[in-house]
Amino acid sequence: MTDAEPQSRPGAQQPASASASASASEATVAPGAQPVLVALFRRVRQQVAKAVVGQEQVLEGLVAAVAVGGHVLLEGPPGVAKTLLARAFAASCALDMRRIQFTPDLLPSDVTGTLTLRAGELVFRKGPVFANVVLADEINRTPPKTQAALLEAMQEGRVSVEGESHELPSPFLLMATQNPIEYEGTYPLPEAQLDRFLMKLHVRYPQEVEETAMLGLRRSGTATATLADVEQVVSAEELLEARSVVDGTRVASEILPFVSGIVRRTRELPAVELGASPRAGVHLLAVAKATARLAGRDYVTPEDVTDNAVAVLAHRLVLKPEADLDRYDPAEAVAAAVAAQPVPR
Ligand SMILES: Nc1ncnc2c1ncn2[C@@H]1O[C@H](COP(=O)(O)OP(=O)(O)OP(=O)(O)O)[C@@H](O)[C@H]1O
Ligand SMILES: [Mg+2]
Repeated sequence: MTDAEPQSRPGAQQPASASASASASEATVAPGAQPVLVALFRRVRQQVAKAVVGQEQVLEGLVAAVAVGGHVLLEGPPGVAKTLLARAFAASCALDMRRIQFTPDLLPSDVTGTLTLRAGELVFRKGPVFANVVLADEINRTPPKTQAALLEAMQEGRVSVEGESHELPSPFLLMATQNPIEYEGTYPLPEAQLDRFLMKLHVRYPQEVEETAMLGLRRSGTATATLADVEQVVSAEELLEARSVVDGTRVASEILPFVSGIVRRTRELPAVELGASPRAGVHLLAVAKATARLAGRDYVTPEDVTDNAVAVLAHRLVLKPEADLDRYDPAEAVAAAVAAQPVPR
């Protein structure tokens, strides 16, 4: 893969209207210098491409998530490189990464840690959740109790065992993978916990050229040998710097009611039982800011919001049973909410 222009979303390059109240020439970046998040994404993409062909949209989502400190759910059919992509991404950042394979017999303490006896004293032995990047693989293969232990940690930023609380490291990013819920032997994540995920990103089958190119990668047996070639190109400090840049992204006053309007409309749709939460609105605005920066802008456009609405909102909606029967899905509900909300001019 060459170091081409970052992937952009349709319609996301230009302010949709004068209300965005800024122009590219006002950007805070010095002429010739690459905006921080654009440069960071390019470096990461170049490394990840050594192991994963394509899936750049998903990678862009992972970079946006780590830039705003949000957790991501990767969903897709078996064998489309969900795990490989998460591992390659973590390998490209100088972060401490742990992988937890979720199985039906995994216990909460296998995730969070346990008290063990050492020299006659009870000491806390940290579980694999104590890492900067935690890959929670096949999270819906474990029963709710173990899922809950992890999701509690991700919301609180700490783990409590026997009344004592232990802080998780910073940054802390959870990447969870799951097969679509209709697969056998899965435990769907509870709605309240889904709301804590910033985005659900769909990992889809590759294009034909990508699938062919993927076969040409160096392998050891069936394992991807090129994962070892992925170099660390982003430090924890750079990620924190990127976060403060994203935080500083300009948001015109019309954007706020646009975001809350979309979120509130998801609650009013007749087919929806549980709509998006206020937290979902916070998440949508944060992702829109990161998207703006990934496109090299320092201000949010309405398209930054609408382009991310499905990824940020759909997994939080619960539809009424009759809508489920009609095969109406949450992404369609989000699209309906977006379509009903007037775009700021
Ligand atoms: N886009 C791709 N680029 C490179 N290798 C790929 C790609 N898609 C699939 N592969 C190959 O397929 C293998 C399976 O990928 P991986 O284990 O990451 O899938 P998964 O989506 O996590 O599957 P599961 O849902 O079964 O856990 C990879 O190790 C790799 O060899
Ligand atoms: Mg996997």
